[in-house]
Amino acid sequence: MKRRQFMQGGLAAIALAGVGSTGLFLLNKKGFVSTVYAADFSTALPIPPLLENLDKTGLTAQFKMAAQLGQRSFFPGKITETAGYNGNFLGPTIRVRNGQRFNLRVDNNLPEVTTLHWHGLHLPAKWDGGPRQPIAPGASWNPDFTIKQQAATLWYHPHAMGKTGEQVYHGLAGLFLIEDEVSDRLDIPKNYGVDDIPVVIQDRRFFSDGQFAYVQNMHETMNGVIGNYMLVNGAMSPTLSVDKQRVRLRLLNGSNSSIYKISFGGQPFQMIASDGGFLDRPVSMTSILLSAGERAEVVLDLSSLKGKKLSMLVDQRGGDRFEAMQINVVKTLQSSTGLPQTLQKVERIPESEADYTRRFVMQSMGMGMMGGGSLTINGKKMDLNRIDEKVKLGATEIWEITNKSAMMMSMPHSMHLHDVQFQILDRDGRRPPVHEQGRKDTVLIQPGETVRIISRFLDYKGVYMYHCHLLEHEDDGMMGQFEVI
Ligand code: C2O
Ligand code: CU
Ligand code: CU
Repeated sequence: MKRRQFMQGGLAAIALAGVGSTGLFLLNKKGFVSTVYAADFSTALPIPPLLENLDKTGLTAQFKMAAQLGQRSFFPGKITETAGYNGNFLGPTIRVRNGQRFNLRVDNNLPEVTTLHWHGLHLPAKWDGGPRQPIAPGASWNPDFTIKQQAATLWYHPHAMGKTGEQVYHGLAGLFLIEDEVSDRLDIPKNYGVDDIPVVIQDRRFFSDGQFAYVQNMHETMNGVIGNYMLVNGAMSPTLSVDKQRVRLRLLNGSNSSIYKISFGGQPFQMIASDGGFLDRPVSMTSILLSAGERAEVVLDLSSLKGKKLSMLVDQRGGDRFEAMQINVVKTLQSSTGLPQTLQKVERIPESEADYTRRFVMQSMGMGMMGGGSLTINGKKMDLNRIDEKVKLGATEIWEITNKSAMMMSMPHSMHLHDVQFQILDRDGRRPPVHEQGRKDTVLIQPGETVRIISRFLDYKGVYMYHCHLLEHEDDGMMGQFEVI
């Protein structure tokens, strides 16, 4: 097995990569490849295929998938060792309907343990796919539950203890779409791959030999592994050709630890859905901030852009601006009669219904002061043998989350809860902007900020995770367990 970066990572990988530049790549002092690639937009945006439902009647959703190693060429003449589901990088899009029985068999063909987590799904704890449900190499896992939530753009990724960041980085992730009567009825673009486009945005960093530069040390753990190349659906600077008047982009910040501001050079768009489904009504915006793990569905009206190209720009927090993708407006055939004024009534949970308030402090301490133990929630690091919070089944709770950082270590965090969708009550006492007033499962928490969220814990008992979705923080232990009892 010569999958050395994948299996070893860490400092050994830096040494192995060396600095043998061929002239094709410029190297910075650490031996990473710098951003000098020709962004020529000659590649068509890859569309992850829809995973085939093995139940031909469509009454249930039955799928089969394998996590496997692969290879892909991101640079001419260089092979990158990757991983994917049923392929070399990323995985197929799973599409189900609310109310459908979902049954999937996943084979772990990786040489190490993995899990398969359903990010954003409301589901029985034993099928959550978190660190409590490891799948040994060569083994398979067979989650079986009924979809019990509204239309939304969710996703899946591995979640094995201490391994999430590295496995996602190599390509293990995919989209999970739920449809329902509302998404059927709404006059919005819904032709998958034609005017309803999955857009998985991920930055990456490479060694000079073409391998992913995934390293885990104190610096990368604290700051996250931040890349200087931007991939969209696994492709570098691709082009999306559209021949419809309107296009719906299902944006996922699928990066390990980056925060993205996504825009189209000032071109306004309508945001129609947040993490957990449709907003009350389309919200007109010119940019959207997504932390790692967050999603947004946006609709662009291209009618005045026929024959033109539109750039999708991604600004990385504390980093660069990337022209991540071009949208080539080939034609503007009418795809719908106009975006509806209202989408659905988002059920708001009144604060007065809360049974309990819990407080969480996400803390980063300066390096050296506490040794390696510097990223914590309520002063603790993740321990699989400890239940941190017990929540009563059926309870409505407010979780008050503070990002408290030592002066020199101020960093944003991205709080994510399994099993539930929540609503943001306020940010530092102020109502969140309207596009953040819908259903959420992941929320950006700025340095020094306190965010209050409210949720109901319904239907299922069992143990679930809450954690920072900066995957290097999560892997370092910025995670806890809540048990619904
Ligand atoms: Cu997307 Cu526990 O994670
Ligand atoms: Cu999750
Ligand atoms: Cu964090």
